[in-house]
Amino acid sequence: MKVTVVGAGAVGASCAEYIAIKNFASEVVVLDIKEGFAEGKAMDLMQTASLNGFDTKITGITNDYSKTAGSDVAIITSGIPRKPGMTREELIGINAGIVKTVSSNLIEHSPNVILIVVSNPMDTMTYLVHKTTNLPKNRIIGMGGALDSARFKYRLAEALEAPISDVDGMVIGGHSDTGMVPLTAHATRNSIKVSEFLSEERLAQVSEDTKVGGATLTKLLGTSAWYAPGAAVSSMVQAIACDQKKMFPCSAFLEGEYGLDDICIGVPVLLGKNGIEKIVKIELAEAEKAKMQESAEGVRKTNGLLAL
Ligand code: LAC
Repeated sequence: MKVTVVGAGAVGASCAEYIAIKNFASEVVVLDIKEGFAEGKAMDLMQTASLNGFDTKITGITNDYSKTAGSDVAIITSGIPRKPGMTREELIGINAGIVKTVSSNLIEHSPNVILIVVSNPMDTMTYLVHKTTNLPKNRIIGMGGALDSARFKYRLAEALEAPISDVDGMVIGGHSDTGMVPLTAHATRNSIKVSEFLSEERLAQVSEDTKVGGATLTKLLGTSAWYAPGAAVSSMVQAIACDQKKMFPCSAFLEGEYGLDDICIGVPVLLGKNGIEKIVKIELAEAEKAKMQESAEGVRKTNGLLAL
């Protein structure tokens, strides 16, 4: 499997690193517009290969998309990250132009590619790729829910004082501070609902902490986070590479599912060799349904800022 990562910044490099360490891809190409930058990151990463025990070949290139030809999966991380105090939505102007150009360049050289969109505002950028390319909807996937769910599990484990491997949970909805819908009613510790162990107030706090997970890190780091985003992307790419049919909440193009139409937003999907193999429909509680509708309204508002 050949994987291309566009953007050699912190998130892109972290994607390349985790994909390589998991050792399921033969080749990872990292592309950046900054002269020599991707080459440097790739060389540095390759010099960890003997230490970390992987055989994936990582190469770096400056803006030459011909070198990405024949990619099975490509990850779009390019664009500007948010600074402290900024929302993901504020990045739309610059990032829309970048994502449009990048996706068209990728498809030109890899017509069968599966695209994973990471650039923010992610749901709107995923929608933009739908509207401006002719890729089938199963091959355009937005990365948000896998990351938000990992942050949810971190907060649940913290509240429960439990090891993370004891907890399970999922976040659907838009990848924004107000749009995320952590499914607290479905979250479990060893198959027991977490509401058995945590008060309503504590669970509400877990939910709030999860929703501002990215903003909390941006404030601490001065820029957007990268380890968990990279790990989330690598798990999704592995599910595709190994045809795992693994369930992740991802931003997918909906045509009636969850009562929503003509929108990309986080819902549970199965990822396998064809990208999104299936959109999984689960029964939501009334309150969750309402939150999902509200979240969709927020995403639509941002989509409205696109010059389509
Ligand atoms: C975050 C970015 C990747 O949530 O959106 O950290």
